[in-house]
Amino acid sequence: MASPIDSSGISFTALYTGAVWQRHGLSEEGLIPPSGQALYSLLTPFEGVSRVVAGGSVRTFLLQRHFIIDHLITEAIEHRGVEQVLEIACGLSPRGIRLRRQFPRLQMIEADLPAMATRKAAFLATRGFLGEHHRVRPIDIFADSGPLSLEAVIDEQFDPDRPLLVVTEGLTSYFTLANISQFWCRLAAVLSKRPGSAYISETYLQPSSRLIGGGLNVLRQALGAMTRAQVSFHFRNGEEARQHVAQSGFKYVEAVNPEDYYGRLPIPESRGDPMVRILDARV
Ligand SMILES: C[S@@+](CC[C@H](N)C(=O)[O-])C[C@H]1O[C@@H](n2cnc3c(N)ncnc32)[C@H](O)[C@@H]1O
Repeated sequence: MASPIDSSGISFTALYTGAVWQRHGLSEEGLIPPSGQALYSLLTPFEGVSRVVAGGSVRTFLLQRHFIIDHLITEAIEHRGVEQVLEIACGLSPRGIRLRRQFPRLQMIEADLPAMATRKAAFLATRGFLGEHHRVRPIDIFADSGPLSLEAVIDEQFDPDRPLLVVTEGLTSYFTLANISQFWCRLAAVLSKRPGSAYISETYLQPSSRLIGGGLNVLRQALGAMTRAQVSFHFRNGEEARQHVAQSGFKYVEAVNPEDYYGRLPIPESRGDPMVRILDARV
């Protein structure tokens, strides 16, 4: 395996997001270890800071993205005939379990860096969730060859004659735009060989005011130091995100504003324009 970027320092953040899903009744008993609960409590003061500087707590944005991603996946399965889903950077997300319950015919592969993939597979195995239709595979989105590479995982795990839906949640903002764009280009190239395929993700927007920017910069640097990653907000607005992802090779891209789902999905509302956009990209 050849991976030019070591992003293993990011993995512990899955404990935090996993704890958020659990606190909001979206997870499975036993999926989140006590360390995840402790991290949730530890980071609670940051939530107050974020609410003041960014118009909503981090948990607001996490829940907005999680519910809208779920909704877009459900639409793709129910209305566009998608029966294969790959969730990259699955962490301790309960989404795979929920989707398999909702859609028993679904081919669900969860993937993450090797250590996280092993941890997730162990949990799913002890609960009897693993099987022919629900598997976990190690992946590294920056591995340019070998069994951990994106191309190898997709080729080995999925029927090439049927559309594939790829999801990443909570991954892209840990990398520079140049680095994550390499992943988007490779993903678009693989999915383009499978008509009807799609990619769903989210992106956090650069703050529009200097005051908010200053506050968020502090949060960004703290998260970057903890994860040894280059935490980045890549775009100024949804249109910029849409155009950039389209240039990576996707034919149709929408940058969904959570406001469009207020009152339609059980998501919390931000004060002002939400910082997050959900990317719905199709080949
Ligand atoms: C913030 S967590 C998100 C987990 C989950 N998607 C969620 O929303 O709860 C980020 C995840 O990205 C994974 N990750 C980091 N670098 C990666 C890489 N190069 N390839 C694949 N996954 C990676 C981490 O191991 C971690 O599980």
